[in-house]
Amino acid sequence: MNKNIVLVGFMGSGKTSVGIKLAKVLSYQFLDTDAMIVEKSGLSITEIFDQQGEEAFRQMETDLLKELNENLAGAIISTGGGMPMREENRELLKALGHVIFLYTTPEITLERVEDDTKRPLLDCENPKEKIMNLLETRLPFYKACANQMIDTSNKSFYEIITEVENAIKE
Ligand code: S3P
Repeated sequence: MNKNIVLVGFMGSGKTSVGIKLAKVLSYQFLDTDAMIVEKSGLSITEIFDQQGEEAFRQMETDLLKELNENLAGAIISTGGGMPMREENRELLKALGHVIFLYTTPEITLERVEDDTKRPLLDCENPKEKIMNLLETRLPFYKACANQMIDTSNKSFYEIITEVENAIKE
């Protein structure tokens, strides 16, 4: 059975768009952990953060990873940007499949997500500062759980897809 491919990285790094395209090219199933949590809970990510708090959301992420680890194969899984922050999650991500960290420079990340209204973590007074701080804190954790890192900054969508495909073949 085919191994899963797990995409980790910061908000705006392209996990979902790359994941959807890759799934088509490889004929894999595509899963998005945020979308699965929304479906299971019946709440949007913003509603979960507002009504139950960030910790409750983080626990939902861990529970979902455990569930996916039970019987999943041949899937591309796009994960929420904060997923690798828990040590337990890093182990679960590694157990789930080949983990690819999609890296994007802080500058490009800022351009992509600064005006975002759907990401509760950026709903603050200074989203720019928040992004820079979060990126810096998270970088070692993304690296710690990844089998491979792809710098997507100056690459076309096609180049990124090809790079992932080549990595999987190896
Ligand atoms: C988060 C990233 C979001 C979502 C939630 C928290 C984070 O997912 O899980 O808003 O902590 O970085 P994306 O990375 O898909 O935007």
